[in-house]
Amino acid sequence: MKNTLSWVLVLLLIVSLLNNCLSSKVQRDITQKKSFIAKLRELYASGDRSKWPAPMLDEEAKPYFSEIGHLPEVQFPQDNPYSSEKAFLGKTLFYDPRLSGSNQIACASCHDPELGWCDNRMVSFGHDRQLGTRNAMSILNTAYATTLFWDGRAASLEEQSQMPIQDKKEMSEHVEIAAGKIARIKGYEILFEKAFGDKTVTKERITKAIATFERTIKSTPSKFDRFIDGETHLFTDDEVMGLHLFRTKAQCVNCHNSGYFSNNRFENIGTSLLNSKEEDLGRYLMTKNPDDVGKFRVPGLREVVRTYPWMHNGSFTSLTDIIQIYNKGNPEPYKNRSTVHNGITLNSQKSDMLRLLDLTDEEVAQLEAFLGTLSTKNERIQPPALP
Ligand code: HEC
Ligand code: HEC
Repeated sequence: MKNTLSWVLVLLLIVSLLNNCLSSKVQRDITQKKSFIAKLRELYASGDRSKWPAPMLDEEAKPYFSEIGHLPEVQFPQDNPYSSEKAFLGKTLFYDPRLSGSNQIACASCHDPELGWCDNRMVSFGHDRQLGTRNAMSILNTAYATTLFWDGRAASLEEQSQMPIQDKKEMSEHVEIAAGKIARIKGYEILFEKAFGDKTVTKERITKAIATFERTIKSTPSKFDRFIDGETHLFTDDEVMGLHLFRTKAQCVNCHNSGYFSNNRFENIGTSLLNSKEEDLGRYLMTKNPDDVGKFRVPGLREVVRTYPWMHNGSFTSLTDIIQIYNKGNPEPYKNRSTVHNGITLNSQKSDMLRLLDLTDEEVAQLEAFLGTLSTKNERIQPPALP
């Protein structure tokens, strides 16, 4: 009896010792993690990017990498310099539905400042409520895009801005006719005169004014900008870890880099859904180069929280889902990797930069928390009075 009792006592002692050991290990781990995050916080908020831990980049990403950070000053092209009068004319035209065939649809119909300068729809509807095939991109920070559209088919904002006017599913109007309509509206004379020196209305002037306005639509400093400038306590621990993961283990910076959070390149992340009803050959449609099948322009991630749903087809409504897809290296289904287009067999070749990332659920949540810090509030822009 006595013997049993002492055995029980010894056992209890061992269990309690083990327990103590374990909880002090957990405690140690927590303290270590806390001090690791505190160190990261100090480096990232130091105001000196050279102190940041090195990014984890693939060889092929290096030539196109520049560090994430603030948005630089907007560059206005030499043949279309900025003036506030021109930007104001551009803003007025951006809101004017008379540029459309039905006189009902303006640029602002699909690029609404209250909806993150897009329309928050999977795909837009335009003329006669026809549905388009792609998700409307926000025009926020579009001044930093070196080519426009998901497939880069426009080389400048000037060139881009006449395309939706002529698109049968969008505004469905001939640009010359649109320009003629604007020229007949008396109140525009003074706006053209102030912007261009005389009251002549041409389609070139219309596109130049709209492009100038668009270049002024730039994100104001976000929580991320303020944090890296030294507001050390602005980020939660999860946001600090998310920023670090974005640049290291999750390797998002391979493609989403610079102050614009895009390297402005075209990449295939396995979203082209070849051989299905939703098939989109992406950049190939523009270049006809088989290597470009399924490539889309890397979108900038500033304001990403406001510009849902995501991807070229608006097929994602959850950022967690997007990060989980990257986490798995996007296992594109086999049946969607090849298609026959105009008699040519085309294959989707997913980027080698996509791979299993091995992120825990906690890390996925931290990345998502970080993406939140890149967004600012929706503006309440007063629409201009139309002449
Ligand atoms: C019916 C909806 C609709 C209308 C109206 C519309 N857009 Fe768009 N916009 C879109 C869609 C959809 C895309 C993406 C299309 C694609 O990539 O193929 C887009 C893309 C853009 C882009 C590219 C942004 C980037 O980062 O590449 C710009 C700039 C733009 N639109 C400006 C305009 C202007 C200026 C007007 C008016 C002249 C206009 N849009 C009218 C739906 C619309
Ligand atoms: C190989 C280059 C590449 C890498 C690496 C990459 N992305 Fe992307 N990302 C893209 C491309 C290309 C698209 C657009 C694809 C499409 O529209 O079908 C995109 C789209 C997105 C979108 C949707 C944005 C929008 O406006 O629709 C989010 C969010 C995103 N990526 C986040 C991430 C995160 C987080 C990581 C790291 C885990 C990451 N990306 C890594 C190339 C990349």
